[in-house]
Amino acid sequence: MSELIKQQEFEAKPLDPQPPTRDTLNNQKLKLLIVEDDEDVRAQMKWAMVRDYEILTAGSRAEAMAAIRAHQPRVVILDLGLPPHPASTEEGFATLADAIAADPHIKVVIVTGRAEKEHALKAIAQGAYDILYKPVQLDELGTILKRAYHVSALEREHAEMQLRMGEEAFEGMLGTSPRMQDVFATVRKVANSDVPVLITGESGTGKELIALAIHRLGRRRGGPFVVINCGAIPETLLESELFGHEKGAFTGAHILRKGRIESADKGTLFLDEIGELSLPLQVKILRYLQEQTIERIGGREEHRVDARVIAATNRDLKQAMIDGKFREDLYFRIGVVSVALPALKERNGDALLIANAFLLRYAKENRKKISGFSSNAVTAIENYNWPGNVRELENRVKRAVIMAEGRKVSASDLELEAPKGKFEGLSLRDAREALEKEMVIRVLTKHNDNITRAAEELGISRPTLYELMEKLGIARK
Ligand SMILES: Nc1ncnc2c1ncn2[C@@H]1O[C@H](COP(=O)(O)OP(=O)(O)OP(=O)(O)O)[C@@H](O)[C@H]1O
Ligand SMILES: [Mg+2]
Repeated sequence: MSELIKQQEFEAKPLDPQPPTRDTLNNQKLKLLIVEDDEDVRAQMKWAMVRDYEILTAGSRAEAMAAIRAHQPRVVILDLGLPPHPASTEEGFATLADAIAADPHIKVVIVTGRAEKEHALKAIAQGAYDILYKPVQLDELGTILKRAYHVSALEREHAEMQLRMGEEAFEGMLGTSPRMQDVFATVRKVANSDVPVLITGESGTGKELIALAIHRLGRRRGGPFVVINCGAIPETLLESELFGHEKGAFTGAHILRKGRIESADKGTLFLDEIGELSLPLQVKILRYLQEQTIERIGGREEHRVDARVIAATNRDLKQAMIDGKFREDLYFRIGVVSVALPALKERNGDALLIANAFLLRYAKENRKKISGFSSNAVTAIENYNWPGNVRELENRVKRAVIMAEGRKVSASDLELEAPKGKFEGLSLRDAREALEKEMVIRVLTKHNDNITRAAEELGISRPTLYELMEKLGIARK
């Protein structure tokens, strides 16, 4: 078989005075993997290429994949006839598929006999970079290799740039969908003014990020950005949190304490979950909005505070007004300008874009060598409903990166397995358990592991949920 490479080519004539076969970063030779089961052919190829490349060799699919995982060569020369079926192309095609799955930018140059010409088209269709026929002409191979490295580098650069551009897209927010582009345009406009803004959107859609973007893009960017979550602070403490108190205003008020509104002077006050504000406090906030002054609890003086108010809610405030839980006058003050964040499932293509960015971030943080999502994960990400929106996406990717064993994050790492047939072969008891587990994990993720809310949504008590988690082996973050 060694005559498959023309003997006269082995003079190893220079392909180019200075072939660009070095890594520009560290000036080391680029790695080239030769997958060929015939030892003679392999040795000859290696001999011919070793001047320009760092040569790795493999004689089977398993060896090839081990070399790809360990050394990440950018280009592979692949013989289609590999053991255990050297006479057919089966193993060759399987190796091609595995290599591309492991590294979508890898360039595979197929080497095949003339007789197998009909496979050429199929190989290209399956992602091979080019085809060479035996006997291989070395100068032709040299040219193809150089081009393959070039294309691979361009592709990688492009992919990286897209990610970076995405990262820098808009004040840390990713989104190329028309819906999000509209949101960003609105934010740019309102940032220049000083009117209150109401941000609405389901939980986890990025309301806080939008508030921060408005602050950062406006003239108050040098001032403080003060966040107060009206839903997280007990009503009895909220008033003094917001307005502060004078010394001796109530038992325990040993010192004068300024409230959050005052600390937002010259900056922005972000009232998160404003729908949770009690009616009396709504009146007080309204007064601040109208007069730009506050009175500390127990105080008699008015203090001028120049803070821009941005509010957010995942509640339907119009319904709350009808129910008598939200004051109309306050609504019309803060809702003059509103930014409505679409649910993640309504942002075409954004879920995958954001998922990729999270994958990169968490793989780096956890020092895991993960190159992307498997194709079933991509489909799952695109088809899932994302009830917990970007927050859920972030949590799922974060967990998946930690759990993933391969170089790719799969749908099951994301706990987004396709539902079809998943109970097949299970006993009723096991199926019930599987379903319970899936639901509990989904609802916990949606509520960011908040047991009270998760139990509420599942329609069970908190102790029951704890028991269930224990039984199913679900750990809390
Ligand atoms: N477009 C986006 N691109 C990248 N990350 C995002 C985007 N939107 C939100 N995030 C991230 O998702 C998480 C949730 O965002 P954020 O806290 O702003 O949402 P929220 O609407 O305030 O949620 P909640 O209603 O639960 O308070 C954060 O970690 C945020 O950084
Ligand atoms: Mg929030």
